[in-house]
Amino acid sequence: MLKTWLRKALRAAGYDLVRRRRADARYRQASHSAAMPLPEGAEQDLRADHPRLLELRRIYAQSPLPMAARGMWGEDYLARELDLRYFRGDNAYVWQFRNVGAQARLKYYLLLRDIAARDPHGWLQLAEEDGAFGCWSFDYPGWPRVSRDLLDSINELLYLDARMGLAGIEALRIVDIGAGYGRLAHRAHALLPGLVEYVCVDGVPESTFLAEYYLRHRGCEQARVLDIGQLPDYAPAAAPQLAVNIHSFSEMRLESIRGWLAWLAALGTQHLLVVPNDAQQMLSMEPDGTRQDFAPLFAEAGFTLADTRPVHEDPTLRELVNVSDHYFFYRRGAAAA
Ligand SMILES: C[S@@+](CC[C@H](N)C(=O)[O-])C[C@H]1O[C@@H](n2cnc3c(N)ncnc32)[C@H](O)[C@@H]1O
Repeated sequence: MLKTWLRKALRAAGYDLVRRRRADARYRQASHSAAMPLPEGAEQDLRADHPRLLELRRIYAQSPLPMAARGMWGEDYLARELDLRYFRGDNAYVWQFRNVGAQARLKYYLLLRDIAARDPHGWLQLAEEDGAFGCWSFDYPGWPRVSRDLLDSINELLYLDARMGLAGIEALRIVDIGAGYGRLAHRAHALLPGLVEYVCVDGVPESTFLAEYYLRHRGCEQARVLDIGQLPDYAPAAAPQLAVNIHSFSEMRLESIRGWLAWLAALGTQHLLVVPNDAQQMLSMEPDGTRQDFAPLFAEAGFTLADTRPVHEDPTLRELVNVSDHYFFYRRGAAAA
C-alpha cells in the first residue's frame, strides 16, 4: 500500500522506485565455480597438511637462493586468496571476474570471437575446458566451452607463434618462471606437437605443489616441475628456446627477478616472454610495499627487447574488455642478432 502510494507520488514528480540489483561479489573477491565436482581423491590430495606440501615448505624455507625470498605471496595472502582444492577458481593465480570488472559473459564472448578469427592451427577446437578445480567457464551455442585459462593461453601461444614460429619448432624446450598451477604448461602440452620439455619453476611452495598435482592429473608427460632445491642441479639436454613469465615478476622482489634472469642466462635461454601486471610498467613488489623498476635487469642478463604490444591488438576490444596488459618479447645472445 505504502509502496504503491510512494511509487505514484514519485512518478508524479518524475522519479521512479526500482529495486537495487544485488552486486555480484565475484567482481570484487576470490570465488570459484562449484559446477564441476572435484575429481576423486582431490579432497585428500589438496590439503594444507599434505606431506609433500610440508616437505616443499621446508625446502623453500631453507633455500639460500634469492628466488625463494617471499614477497607478497606470504601466509596472509595465501589464506585470503587460495583454497588449495579450487586452485583454478578466480584467485591469486588467474583472476576471471575481477580482471574484467563487469559483464564477464559478454566480454569472454568477445575474446573468444577475436581468437576464433585468427586461429590458423585450430587451437580453439583442440584445447578443452572442463571447468575442473573451480574454474569459471562460459558456454556459447556453436562454440567450445572457454575460460580465461584457455583463452589467455591460446592468445599467448599465438603471439609466440607469430614471433618465433613456436608451433613448428621441433625438440621445443620451454621454461616457465612463476608457473602457478601449470596453466600454460597444460595448454602447451596439448597444442605444441614439438614440445619435449616444459619446465615449471616457482618461488612459492604452494604453487610448486599444485603444479606437480595438476600436471600429473592432466597427464602432461613432457611437463617437469622443479622445486627450488632442484634448481642448482638442473641441466637441460639443450638450451631452452623459450622462457615465459606471465604476471609473475611483478609479484616478486627485485633480488628474486635478478636471480631468475641470471639462471635463465646460465641455461642459455634464447627468448623470453614477460607479461607484467601493470600494463607497460615493470614494477617489482618489495617487502616494504615499495615498487621498483625491473626493466633494466633484462639487459644485465643479456636480454634485448625485440617486440612489445598490447595482448589484445584491437583497441576497441581492449577498451570493451577492460584489459591493458602488454607482451614484452626478448631475445638473447645469438638469437638477438
Ligand atoms: C598471478 S600468478 C601467475 C601464475 C602463472 N604464471 C599464470 O599466468 O597462470 C603469479 C605466480 O608468481 C609466483 N611467484 C611469486 N613469487 C615468486 C618468486 N619469488 N619466484 C617465482 N615465482 C613466484 C606465484 O607462486 C604464482 O605462481
